Order: sequence, then C-alpha cells, then structure tokens
Amino acid sequence: MSESIVVDGVAKQFTLRYHRTLKQMAVAKMRGRDVSNRFLALDDVSFTVQQGESIGLMGLNGSGKSTLLRLVSGVMRPDRGSVRTRGRIAGLIATGAGFHPQLTGRENIYINAAINGMTEAETRGKFDEIVEFSDISQFLDTPVGHYSSGMAARLGFSVAIHVDSDIFLADEVLAVGDKPFKKKCMERMQEIRESGRTIFYVSHAPGSVRKMCDRAIVLEHGRVGFDGDVAEGIRYLKYDEPKGTPEDDIDDELGSDV
Ligand SMILES: Nc1ncnc2c1ncn2[C@@H]1O[C@H](COP(=O)(O)OP(=O)(O)OP(=O)(O)O)[C@@H](O)[C@H]1O
Ligand SMILES: [Mg+2]
Repeated sequence: MSESIVVDGVAKQFTLRYHRTLKQMAVAKMRGRDVSNRFLALDDVSFTVQQGESIGLMGLNGSGKSTLLRLVSGVMRPDRGSVRTRGRIAGLIATGAGFHPQLTGRENIYINAAINGMTEAETRGKFDEIVEFSDISQFLDTPVGHYSSGMAARLGFSVAIHVDSDIFLADEVLAVGDKPFKKKCMERMQEIRESGRTIFYVSHAPGSVRKMCDRAIVLEHGRVGFDGDVAEGIRYLKYDEPKGTPEDDIDDELGSDV
C-alpha cells in the first residue's frame, strides 16, 4: 500500500477580530483593549492515510474538520507542518462551494467540473450522467441561486463523484439531501470505496460513518482526540446514543444528521 495523505505536525491559525470599523478599533486601542486575537483552529495534527482507506472525520462544531479538509484539498496552506497528498483530489469541501449563483445549473456543472480538474471534453462526455444522478434536469437552465439548498448539494455532489480522482473528499454532503438522495449517495460512495480510492469524509452522522469508513479520526478543539476503530471513535464522541434503534431503520442505516 502507498501513502495517500500525510499530515505532519499541522497547525492553522486564524485571527479573530473584535471590531468591524476603524473607529471602533481606534476607540478600543485607546482604552487598551484587544482589537484582535489569534487562535489555533488546528494544532499539531498528524496522521497518515493509506491509498484505499476510508476515513470518517468527526468532531463537534468548530473542532476544525472543514479547515483540515481545506488543507488536504490544497485551497488553504498550513501555518506550520506539512500536508502531502498523492494523486488527483476531487470532492465537495462545502455544499455549494464553487457555484456561481447567477449562472445556470448547466453552466455551473462545467465550471465546477473544471475546478475539480476535468477538461471540457471530459465534462461533455459525462454531462448526461451528472444530470441524471443529480435529478435536477428540469432546472438545468435555471440560475443556481434559485435552487433549494438540497438541489445545489445534489448538483455539487453529482459533479464531484464523476471526477476520476485518487482521493475523494466530502464535507457533510449528505446533511441537506433527502432520504432517497442520501441512499443514492451512500451507494455511490461505497462504489468509490470499493474501487480503491481514498475517502476522507466529514460527518456528524454516526450511521453513515459506521457504514462507510474503516477508520475514524475525531478532532477536539483542533487536535486529534482519537484515531482508530470507527465504533470506538463514535463512542469516544458519545455519538452512539440513543440506543435501541432498529437495525433496518433507514435513518439509523444512513445516519440521521444531528
Ligand atoms: N477563514 C476563517 N477565518 C477565521 N476563522 C475561521 C476561518 N475558518 C474557520 N475558522 C474558525 O476555525 C474553527 C474551526 O472551524 P471549522 O469550520 O474547521 O470547524 P468544523 O469542525 O468544520 O465545524 P462544523 O461541524 O460546524 O462544520 C472555528 O472556530 C471557525 O470559526
Ligand atoms: Mg465544517
């Protein structure tokens, strides 16, 4: 097996500003108050993912999951440490990311595919499949700004899964989808997993992580709190409650979003 993602001693710092205007800042400075503060969204994060592994990245709101995904995707750089990836990366780092609200669904498919590294010819070849999967053919020539959040998510996810990549990133893609779409997405992600691609999947839904992932990484205030077995990771996060939900319940199976 070869290494797919190597994150080594990564830190990412953000500046929190307490004031919006110059006047407010000047007044605060005069009174000797802080005008901004730095805080570490990620702190000394290290782990290695092998090609073909499927990782469930979990953690409470604000723990740094999306920031870590952005670093892995390369849209952001760490302040310390390094992130190395092997091969082509595709996926959704946020629902609706990369969409232009004034352009139509059709136009956005081409733009989004290009952002994911697809050529125009490649996109043209897969266009019908993308539209079919997203099930929004009726609204293809409507501006994406008029789409419901679920419809935009469908389109984004549909483009992402049609990119031939070695690493597939997904940040809470299933959160706004309806039940039939969630089911379809899970099936498609299973196929991606079986094809030997690396999956790096952020979710608050323990059911979907249990179903999809070989390993869980739990972030806590920007640090790796747990890295290992999925069931243990879910227990670590106390996401395994409530108990006694029937196995065949679809919400449990797909992971209802908390
Ligand atoms: N561009 C930015 N500028 C300033 N602060 C940021 C920026 N991006 C993220 N943060 C901060 O970093 C912290 C981690 O955010 P992040 O989005 O990674 O959390 P998350 O784990 O994805 O949370 P959620 O479960 O809510 O999606 C938060 O406190 C957030 O406010
Ligand atoms: Mg997030």
